[in-house]
Amino acid sequence: MKRITLTRFLIERQRDKQLINADLRLLIETVARACKAISNAVGKGAVGGMLGGAGTDNVQGEAQKKLDVLSNDILLDANEWGGNLAALASEEMEDPHPIPTHFPKGEYLLLFDPLDGSSNIDVNVSIGTIFSVLRCPKGADGTVGDPGEKEFLQPGSKQVAAGFAVYGPTTVLVLTVGDGTHGFTLDREMGSFILTHPDIRIPEDTAEFAINMSNMRRWETPVKRYIEECLAGKTGARGKDFNMRWVASMVSDVYRILTRGGIFMYPRDDKNKAGRLRLMYEANPMAFIIEQAGGACTDGATRMLDIQPTGLHQRIAVVLGSKNEVERVAQYHAQA
Ligand code: F6P
Repeated sequence: MKRITLTRFLIERQRDKQLINADLRLLIETVARACKAISNAVGKGAVGGMLGGAGTDNVQGEAQKKLDVLSNDILLDANEWGGNLAALASEEMEDPHPIPTHFPKGEYLLLFDPLDGSSNIDVNVSIGTIFSVLRCPKGADGTVGDPGEKEFLQPGSKQVAAGFAVYGPTTVLVLTVGDGTHGFTLDREMGSFILTHPDIRIPEDTAEFAINMSNMRRWETPVKRYIEECLAGKTGARGKDFNMRWVASMVSDVYRILTRGGIFMYPRDDKNKAGRLRLMYEANPMAFIIEQAGGACTDGATRMLDIQPTGLHQRIAVVLGSKNEVERVAQYHAQA
């Protein structure tokens, strides 16, 4: 069987399907290269002095790990110079990061969560990188100017690409440019991402849910109802037994759902009134990837990709995965 590298996959999308242009191809390849560098750093662990805290807090007031800071730097360094970006935004930085003046600017905006699931770093559980690409609106003079937060605040349906990498037993990269969701595995000897999971499809039904059960007493009624019905199993309203998985790294939980179906929920609750996950860095890219694989994603009331963002670091409730289950949760919200 012919091995299709990420480069070849992207060239086909550019040349044959005209889905992406050369600038977007460069952007995706650059992000993928940065993910390889992060994967190497993650793999070194304690031997490379990579574990532990950085001694700083991020914009959300969360303690940063050394690897959070390093991953953010790797992504910034890799993407500043290509001439394809107008600005970058990171979950780890309060404001958008401008392109240094000695480099040219391009038409795209890149957003990323450099290291998702970072509470799992020191315990050797899979973590990952999530990214999202938007077009930068142009000003009256026809240029992208100096984009600020406002330019980034576009609904997820405007994304032109989204992806995530999981640094697990294998390093995988999942990508969509709007023609399905495709998975690549890092061939460590060759240093190339190889297409191993073309056209991923999520089963519409599932008997597996992922949620942090320790928050149960704080959930909204529709979420409680859904989970209680799952827990009741065969003898309850659903008439079947459910299994539960919770890795506590969104990248791993979503990857599992892409592989065998399931539903992932991080609802709003009494403590996280708006929700816990970030719309721009987590919910929107994952929603694009999940929808392109035949799944669904909502905040309970609205399709995730239709939500108009109000802040770069806005939090949101997330329900995603197998279509019929996500629709059921949305229905329970509507009934409530
Ligand atoms: O950034 C958020 C994150 O680490 C996700 O990757 C993960 O799904 C969630 O938080 C884990 O939350 P909790 O600590 O409540 O299990």
